[in-house]
Parts: sequence; structure tokens; C-alpha cells
Amino acid sequence: MAYYFDEPSRTFNEYLLVPGYSSAQCIPAEVSLKTPLVKFKRGEEPAISLNIPMVSAIMQAVSDDGMAIALATEGGLSFVYGSQTIEDQAAMVARVKDYKAGFVTSDANLSPEMTLADVVALKEEHGHSTMPVTADGSAHGKLVGVVTDRDYRLSRMSMDAKVADFMTPREKMIVAPADTSLKVANDIIWDNKLNSLPVVDDDDCLMYLVFRKDYDSHKSNPNEMLDAHKRYMVGAGINTRDYAERVPALVEAGADVLCIDSSEGYSDWQKFTIEWIREHYGDDVKVGAGNVVDAEGFRFLADAGADFIKVGIGGGSICITREQKGIGRGQATATIEVAKARDEYFEETGVYIPICSDGGIVYDHHLTLALAMGSDFVMLGRYFARFDESPTNKVNINGSYMKEYWGEGSARARNWQRYDLGGDKKGMSFEEGVDSYVPYAGSLKDNVDLTLSKVKSTMCNCGALTIPELQEKAKLTIVSSTSIVEGGAHDVVLKDKTPYVSSSIH
Ligand code: IMP
Repeated sequence: MAYYFDEPSRTFNEYLLVPGYSSAQCIPAEVSLKTPLVKFKRGEEPAISLNIPMVSAIMQAVSDDGMAIALATEGGLSFVYGSQTIEDQAAMVARVKDYKAGFVTSDANLSPEMTLADVVALKEEHGHSTMPVTADGSAHGKLVGVVTDRDYRLSRMSMDAKVADFMTPREKMIVAPADTSLKVANDIIWDNKLNSLPVVDDDDCLMYLVFRKDYDSHKSNPNEMLDAHKRYMVGAGINTRDYAERVPALVEAGADVLCIDSSEGYSDWQKFTIEWIREHYGDDVKVGAGNVVDAEGFRFLADAGADFIKVGIGGGSICITREQKGIGRGQATATIEVAKARDEYFEETGVYIPICSDGGIVYDHHLTLALAMGSDFVMLGRYFARFDESPTNKVNINGSYMKEYWGEGSARARNWQRYDLGGDKKGMSFEEGVDSYVPYAGSLKDNVDLTLSKVKSTMCNCGALTIPELQEKAKLTIVSSTSIVEGGAHDVVLKDKTPYVSSSIH
């Protein structure tokens, strides 16, 4: 006879935290959000810890090298999407590892033949006021000039004016050679009252731009996720089919951790993939697995040797798996049950396997709830898709800026390997995700800062200065559907319709 779970499965929205005693020492400034990323033995330190409990989803619309750099700067980690060729994915990973903080590859470049209209359009698209001019208009072409706000006046000039006629030409520019350190670049910027400094190679081709503001922000990022060589850390998604080729390429490119990206992880395919990695790399290559939604699934992947385990089926904002296939479980219930299984496993074996609640985080407080329920960190897609740093274009829809966001199981991503059941899949593919827009929300840093300030504040209300302490002390209550209404502003006429809108509310 089929098995029935006793309780209905619940979502984050059905829970609240009940405050506990907070001492005078329990203030947000004292909270540490450090959390393990990979498994470790009792009494030992994990090989990799996150400085903030956030990773970005293994998705085309979310995690490329730009996102990875921005999130590592803040103390989290991105898993670069695997639904692309092995070469392209490895190149993205390599770009993160090669990235020199403060040295920016320009993404808005001009050629001399372009016009003022092009300058205005590029500025609108990227928001940059400094645009290098290269002979061929590429990011690493021969440097011939620069255009900043000071080079043109829209009121006086024709939109057809050629860039070559109003740019600041190369001979009037101050540039730095390839081996310039960030410190020296910054000195040149200050000594010459510059806003930016191009770095060129021996052939006078553009390599990077250094901005004054970037140098300052670099100094104020104490949470940066850096490896032993002071390079940013980055993860990468893999699948259960081409791992024999993909894993070596990603390891060679410098990926710090891998994660099997699959909608359903309780399968031999994941076990075979982990076994292959252990056979070829031992424990040197860290690999997460998932997704599972119950204790059995957790135990299976734990025994298979996963370094961390992702939780969640069907809760993603772009996900239609539950509608299409009728599988899944409320994200809160899944997180609670898997966390319990993780604790039991730790008791039994002395090995702590971090879990990651993946998908369905809508409000900032859902992140705190997921941690309180036992998640060590969370994976977010929609949340990060809204920021400047996500790989998609910002588009103007009826006067509001939006970013595109599509599921890996959508027809657009065509990532059918994620839904691997082995064998020949011809004719078996159907969509498990949608293509959508999410409201543009600005920079990753501003949003992550705001979200985490709320998390820290709630942790203090619960008397917790660390995530393990929150997990131990949290008191969670289920809310009735009527009391959910009480939780928002109610029975008042709002003056401003968006006064307290959370960074993550639609
Ligand atoms: P979100 O943060 O609610 O947007 O959820 C992101 C998560 O949804 C990802 O990390 C994946 O686990 C999952 N996901 C991504 N693409 C799809 C899809 O097309 N169908 C179902 N789930 C998806």
C-alpha cells in the first residue's frame, strides 16, 4: 500500500519565528553568518565555509562569471550554470579565477565609427559613464580613445556625431602597463585626478579599466570568498551524463566546488557521478548533490558521498514540476525533515553534511526561516536574477525595468539533462519551467546588505549570534491562514503603496 505522510507539507509562508530572550550583547553587529559549505568530521573545520549563507542558482539567467564575482565579493558563492558547452562553462570559471579585484573588463565599448546616439544607447543599457574606444569596438581591441560624460553635450551636438570626432584621443590619455598593481593604479588615479585608468598590454590593446570607486569598495569587503591564492572562489554545476569530460575541464579551470544539478536527486545517476569523482579525485574535488525532499533521499546521497545536499522539488518561482509531474513537497517541510536526517546522520557517524534549501525564497525572512529550520545555506534564483550582475538584459516593459528570468527546465534553456532518467531521452522532453520577467532591483551589494541586515536583526530577536545557535534556539510556529492577513499592513489606507516593500517582494 502506498505510504502517506501524516502531515500536509508546508511552505515558508506558513511559519513565523517566536522571539526568544536576547541579551544586551546580542546585537546585529556581533552576528556571524559564517556557515559550512562542505562536509566535515566532528571537531574539524570544513574545507570550505561561506561567509554569508547564500549561493546563486545553477541557471543560465542567474549564474555566470559576472554574478560569481559579485557574489564572492559579498561572501557567498555562485554555481556557474552547466547547461552550456564544457568549453564555455570552463571559460567562465577561469574568468572568475583570473579576475583581479578592481580590474574590470569593460562591457560597454565603442568604435571610432559609432555615433553619439550609440553612446547614449550604451549608457542607457549599461549605466556606465566611461566607455573606452577601441579600433574594432571590442573589449580588448587596440585602444584609440575614451568617451566620458565630459566629452559631449547632448544639447549642442548632433546625434550623428562620430565618436572619433568628440572622444578624448589615446595620445591625451593616461594609461598603465599590464603589470600595474591595484595600489599603483590607485596612486595614478589620485595623482592625476582621474575617474578611471585603462590598463593596456605591450601592443596598446585594452586589458582592463580600474575605477577609483572599485578600489575603495575592494578595501571595504571583509567577507570576500577567497581561495589560498587570494582568488575569488566559484562553484560549477555538472550533470549526470558528461561528467567524465566536464569535471576534468572544470577542475582544470579552477572550480572550487561542483554541484550535480538535477530536479530529482534520489537516483543511481547521482551515485554513479559521485563515485566517478571519488575514483578519479578522491576527496580533493568537492561535490554537492540533490535535490531531495525527505530523509530517505538525504541518506541515499549521504551514503553516496555527497559533500553537501540540496533540498527542494517544485518550489522554485519558475518551476512547474509539481503541475507537470505531481512530484514535490512544501519547501519548509522538506527542509525541516532533511535537517533532522542530517542531525541524526551526524550523531551516528560524526560527519556533518551541510544542507542547502533550494528554491521558493520570496521574502527576505524566508531566508531566516530556512536557516532556523536547519538549512546551512540557501540557493536563490529569482532573488539574484533581479540584479545588475545577472547575465540577462534589463528591459523596459511599459515604463518599468525588468530582467528576464527563465527556468532551466523551460523550452528556452533546453537543459533536459537536469531531468535525466538515463537512457535515450528522445521524445521524452517536456517543460518543467517557464520563461518570465522579474522586476529589476539594482545592485547585488545593496540588496544583499539589506536582506542580511534583516536576517541578523531577526537572529538577535531569537537570541542567536551564529547560525548554529539560531538552529538550536529558534522557536517556530505555524500560522493560520487568517493570521497571515494580520501580518501585513491591514485595515488602513496606505498613503504610499510601496513604503516598506522588502528587497525581494515582487
Ligand atoms: P527560485 O529561487 O525560487 O527562483 O528557485 C530557483 C531554483 O529553482 C533553482 O535553484 C532550481 O533548483 C529550480 N529550478 C530552476 N529551473 C527550474 C525549472 O525550469 N523547473 C523547476 N525548477 C527549476
